[in-house]
Amino acid sequence: MNNIHWDKIYTEKASTTVSWYCDHDETSLQLLDEMDLRPQDAIIDVGGGASTWVDDLIGRGFSRISILDLSAAALAVTQQRLGKYPGTVKWIVGDVLETPLPQANFSLWHDRAVFHFLTDKKQRQRYVQVLSDALKPGGHVIISTFAEDGPTQCSELPVCRYSPEQLRSEFGTLFTLISHNHVIHRTPAGKNQAFTYCHFQII
Ligand SMILES: C[S@@+](CC[C@H](N)C(=O)[O-])C[C@H]1O[C@@H](n2cnc3c(N)ncnc32)[C@H](O)[C@@H]1O
Repeated sequence: MNNIHWDKIYTEKASTTVSWYCDHDETSLQLLDEMDLRPQDAIIDVGGGASTWVDDLIGRGFSRISILDLSAAALAVTQQRLGKYPGTVKWIVGDVLETPLPQANFSLWHDRAVFHFLTDKKQRQRYVQVLSDALKPGGHVIISTFAEDGPTQCSELPVCRYSPEQLRSEFGTLFTLISHNHVIHRTPAGKNQAFTYCHFQII
């Protein structure tokens, strides 16, 4: 994957106008609030971009947050917004499939609208391997993709759409599906997009 497409978007558009923008990732926050995480538990937001999820994590007292994204421009937007919280966030510019991550480290892996770009089976297998290695035993995953009745493209790129059962099949037997939601996201331009949210836990 290359970052040119994404850097261009985050440079040319205000982060609050991109189709995936939401004020708060309410579904992920609800799932987070149902978990037994402690403020010192490590959390990673994969493809976090300029999302406000990190703001809400900081607001809940979490202090070991990593944000990984292909786009340095996206992370710069978030860095500027969070200027008053230096040191709380570890910034990682890179491709989730290629960037070395600490092993058995994270209590929560969060991915909103990134996995669905992996249209090649080998990429998806690699993603699940990276995820399995980076999570602590018993660690949680919140993942959201376009649903079966969602759009066929995101940011003008092709995507795979998933039901909870299809995501469970992609993640394999190491992961238990704890819950799932079908969520309608209203884009800033006023269009509805159907997402599948899944909460998994690794054995
Ligand atoms: C649709 S946006 C979603 C951003 C954010 N998760 C949110 O909900 O606002 C997809 C993000 O994933 C990043 N991305 C795409 N492919 C990636 C990859 N292979 N590794 C890391 N980041 C990736 C993009 O740069 C972009 O910020």
